[in-house]
Amino acid sequence: MPMKTKGRVVRGHIVTFDEQPCRKMADDCLTEIENGAIAISDTGRISWLGDFSDLPGEYADQNVDDHGKCLILPGFIDAHLHFPQYRMIAAYGKDLLDWLDRYTFVEEQKYQDPVHAAHAAGCFLSELTNNGITGAMVFSTIHPEALDALFCAARKQNRAIVSGKTMMDRRAPAGLCDTASTSYVQSKALIEKWHGVGRLEYAITPRFAVTSTESQLELAGTLCREFPQCRMQTHLSENTGEIDTVAKDFPWSKDYTDVYDRFGLLGSKSFFAHSIHLGERELSRLQESKSTLVHCPTSNNFLGSGLMPFKSFEDMNISLAVGCDIGGGTSFSMLQTLGEAYKVSQLSGTRLSAFDAFYYATLGNARALQMDNEMGMLKEGYWSDLVVLDPCATPIMKERHTLSGSLHDVLFALMIMGDDRAIRQTYIAGVPCKATL
Ligand code: GUN
Ligand code: ZN
Repeated sequence: MPMKTKGRVVRGHIVTFDEQPCRKMADDCLTEIENGAIAISDTGRISWLGDFSDLPGEYADQNVDDHGKCLILPGFIDAHLHFPQYRMIAAYGKDLLDWLDRYTFVEEQKYQDPVHAAHAAGCFLSELTNNGITGAMVFSTIHPEALDALFCAARKQNRAIVSGKTMMDRRAPAGLCDTASTSYVQSKALIEKWHGVGRLEYAITPRFAVTSTESQLELAGTLCREFPQCRMQTHLSENTGEIDTVAKDFPWSKDYTDVYDRFGLLGSKSFFAHSIHLGERELSRLQESKSTLVHCPTSNNFLGSGLMPFKSFEDMNISLAVGCDIGGGTSFSMLQTLGEAYKVSQLSGTRLSAFDAFYYATLGNARALQMDNEMGMLKEGYWSDLVVLDPCATPIMKERHTLSGSLHDVLFALMIMGDDRAIRQTYIAGVPCKATL
């Protein structure tokens, strides 16, 4: 059972997005309350929010966490990262396929051991907390034990996690392969066990077309039809060697996207990580089907995969999200991820504003995940998933802050200079979870 919370009031400078900045005038896209207060009920939901001077008398005797001039935003949501890769960051690989074979597939085999998986789940979730990430869409391994460990740990925290057992039946060591039929049977049993338990949701998870046979992708599509309430997550067009392999393996396909399309894997609940090297036909199918493409900039830069044209995709009305993609990604920090997305946009001849960036890290990702009815915004009735950001977290950030003349300046400096040191506190369903000194 989740931890029980006590009602409390959290004070600080509230910032919450109401709309996508590029669709509205920048100033209309968010609500800002400088002397703000959030009253949290004992169920972990927001019961009131406004200016502290207007705090209703019924909350007057509650404990107050006063974060002064620090910013309070909805907790960050990460739309793509790998639980079993939490400690294999910074592995020196040549490119995606080399890195997978040499490090990733070796590390992931350890998750058949439930003791290892349970320890890893604790470490992984702590690292999310340290970085202000309250909700996430996560890859696990092929082992049901690994998913059980992750979901059990997340359930105790009342944390929103979307995940699923990875399906992969070829081109990996025997210890990391299932079969088409076992992947179907195990996924089905795990959906029935976990989907909708507390804030946990299931994602049908074929790793990518390189490690799945046609029979397995067919059964992944069957699961999507049998369980339309579940998400689907996979990888798409990250690396040119990967794309060539898929073209050889599926000679009948028009392109990489067509492989997933043929098996019924596109749709408004489907998430395609990376999605860098896509042709016009693919983009129009992904847009038509309302699929979401997940930008993983630190990983794409680290593995030399390429520059995702994020802003052009936004102009095409394609659903987008952002993720750190640990362990291809180089940091659990959403701030670092946004900073790197900014640099990628600059290299692509476009510009991601700080408002764009923080929108995606909160409401944007919640919308893509279709969870924006109760998270991604600070609003009465929503979960009290909060991140408290300190713009003066380091001596040089404090100096930089003296020059910031607007909220945009403050957020931009945070995403360029900030990391886990700038996370002053993280509340999950109303409970402060980050260990403070
Ligand atoms: N494609 C298939 N598996 C993976 C993975 O674990 N990481 C990344 N970055 N890409 C993948
Ligand atoms: Zn990934």
